[in-house]
Amino acid sequence: MLKKISVSELIPGMYIHDLNCEWMEHPFLTNSFPVDGKARIAKIRSLGIQEVYIDTDRGIDLPHAPTAEEVQADLHQRMQQIASSQTERPNRVDVATEAPRARNLHNEANRIIKNLMTDVRLGAQIEIERMEPLVENMIDSIFRNPCALLPLAGLKKHDTYTFEHSVSVCALMVAFARELELPYPVTKDIALGALLHDVGKAIVPDYILNKPARLTAKEFSKMQEHVVFSIDILQKTPGIAPIAMNVAAQHHERYDGSGYPRRLKGEEISLYGQMASIVDVYDAISSNRVYHRGLQPSAALTKLLEWSEHHFEPRLVHNFIRAIGIYPAGSLVRLSSGRLAVVREQNEGDLLYPQVEVIYNTDLLCYLTPEIIDLRSGNDSVVSHEDFNKWHINPKLWLPS
Ligand SMILES: [Fe+2]
Repeated sequence: MLKKISVSELIPGMYIHDLNCEWMEHPFLTNSFPVDGKARIAKIRSLGIQEVYIDTDRGIDLPHAPTAEEVQADLHQRMQQIASSQTERPNRVDVATEAPRARNLHNEANRIIKNLMTDVRLGAQIEIERMEPLVENMIDSIFRNPCALLPLAGLKKHDTYTFEHSVSVCALMVAFARELELPYPVTKDIALGALLHDVGKAIVPDYILNKPARLTAKEFSKMQEHVVFSIDILQKTPGIAPIAMNVAAQHHERYDGSGYPRRLKGEEISLYGQMASIVDVYDAISSNRVYHRGLQPSAALTKLLEWSEHHFEPRLVHNFIRAIGIYPAGSLVRLSSGRLAVVREQNEGDLLYPQVEVIYNTDLLCYLTPEIIDLRSGNDSVVSHEDFNKWHINPKLWLPS
């Protein structure tokens, strides 16, 4: 049986099933292993891990600990509560109108960031003014309708992850700023900081950046240096705003002080750094990598909620969940009718009942003639999120058009 326990309750003889942390954030070869001694426990603790899942069939049990099912049921209930208290903020245009513009913008943004990373690698200085039109276009698209650009941000190719991740984090940060009703100039600085937050990766050697396997401890600490490189590059960038700087400098800090590079704690981390840490983790754990399959968006949000006990400010995580919806646009859901549907658009103020495109019949195992339905009317409702891979459905074929 799988159970969740505090790291302080770990003893030799237990079997760790899941370290319950970002998979990039630990140097162990695997997530599951027996606890063979106190040194191993000390190592886990030193990584800032506070809770783990143990397998009681393969090691010592802790009778009072909650089971994984109990933890999931509690998180599910909390997600529903968070979603039911969203404020109404109608989209300015429908998703079909925004989709072609969002697609062009997404391609352009990826091209610009790719070129920028190449230039920085060659020692060029970043020119903020040249980034401004892109920043403004990203904000305009998200404010017209976030459900057009965000599903594109969720799809990345393996070899282009580094700059596609920067574009995704930008789109998500703008949606987050919109939810928090931050002023436009602040949102612009946040968006710019998000586009540039990982610019220091231009200095990290390619063989580490794109290594198709888990990093060694040495490579791992080299990779972590990218934040210091980002700070250094941005400090040399004329006109960089303090907010943009905070986004980049603090995106790996954690609320409980377990992050890097400065191990800042709580409110020592600016609001913008806290937002960036939430968004950066969400995008990382929901993205496919060569050696790791990303979580489905709803599952990634549930993980963020679970980790908000220690790593993030909980209310801010709730706001991020409301910003993109507990069933984010572009994700696959199962309806009570047994049909599968792709989420097209959030109904603002009613995140549990989005507009969806019904595509597949799970009883007959066949595709249906696609049909867009609004779950606020009719008898169908979302039962759970689903994995595109499990049904051999290509998400790229079901992007908004
Ligand atoms: Fe980073």
